[in-house]
Amino acid sequence: MHRSPRHLLELDDLTNGELQRVIELSRQEPNANLMKQKSAALLFEKPSSRTRHSTELAVKELGGFPISVRKEEVSIGGRESIGDVALTFSCYHSIIGARVFNHAVLVEMCKAIDDAGANTSVMNLLSDLAHPFQAVADLITILDELKCDFDSLKDLKITYVGDPNNVFNSLAICLSHFKTPINIASPPGFSPDKKVVPKVNKLGGRVFEISDPVEAVKGADVIYTDTWVSMGQEQDAQIKSERFKDYQVNGKLLENAKSTAIVLHCLPAHRGEEITDEVIDGSSSRVWKQARNREKAAMGIISFLIESQGGRTWP
Ligand code: CP
Ligand code: NVA
Repeated sequence: MHRSPRHLLELDDLTNGELQRVIELSRQEPNANLMKQKSAALLFEKPSSRTRHSTELAVKELGGFPISVRKEEVSIGGRESIGDVALTFSCYHSIIGARVFNHAVLVEMCKAIDDAGANTSVMNLLSDLAHPFQAVADLITILDELKCDFDSLKDLKITYVGDPNNVFNSLAICLSHFKTPINIASPPGFSPDKKVVPKVNKLGGRVFEISDPVEAVKGADVIYTDTWVSMGQEQDAQIKSERFKDYQVNGKLLENAKSTAIVLHCLPAHRGEEITDEVIDGSSSRVWKQARNREKAAMGIISFLIESQGGRTWP
């Protein structure tokens, strides 16, 4: 009986030890033979700068060949079913990465592949629910910039200010692997996803909701923010910019954090909305290091998935 390939849709697909292995792989020199004569299909239903570039580069550095396609080139679920797209890609590729509007598309891809016994791993390059590649890069950035290890992470005060979205979800789950709590400052009515909090709790993390942003960032080591309007939610832009206006990461808010605090943002930033120029361009900002770490994160995750596949091929 064959073993199904590993997929990565969210970071609770990994054990704590496996996430540590991903970080270890992301820090090593890339093994340029790992993807020799292998390739990756990268499908984008939404725009991307960092994810597409860092993932393509990681595949190349591991000796593989990436093919990126936009949704109109494939018309997933339109020209053919989601499962048939996944199976077609699995005829050629060891890895399928997909950025999708609806997380359920990724789940359907994994099911088609597992049911067929194909040996291809599916990776989530961002969905409405999760952004695990980003969270791995965030973890690397926090570990490096605050010079801590997996054990001392839990002593940090990490505060996310803004919309509890896909980026928040993956960051919270990532930190919970290391029993590290996360604080979130968001307006009433914008609480973290009810399905995410139990996952965080199960892994030993905690989500503390603090509606006052000043209180939430008091003494913080890390302040994280992201757009108030994620891709696909454009219809809510006006109401969200009104509701979130007191949740901007600006110089005044930052004064409440530790003087050594770092500011993170997954990017793209909406300068003047969730973050000001003075903060994103200021000395506390680590956003470009974070963006650079996306390539390391991709290398670690892809290496882990390829290692888990063994040598079997399909069909
Ligand atoms: N942070 C991030 O995923 O950026 P892109 O949307 O540009 O890929
Ligand atoms: N929350 C944002 C992240 C972009 C990288 C979005 O989904 O659009």
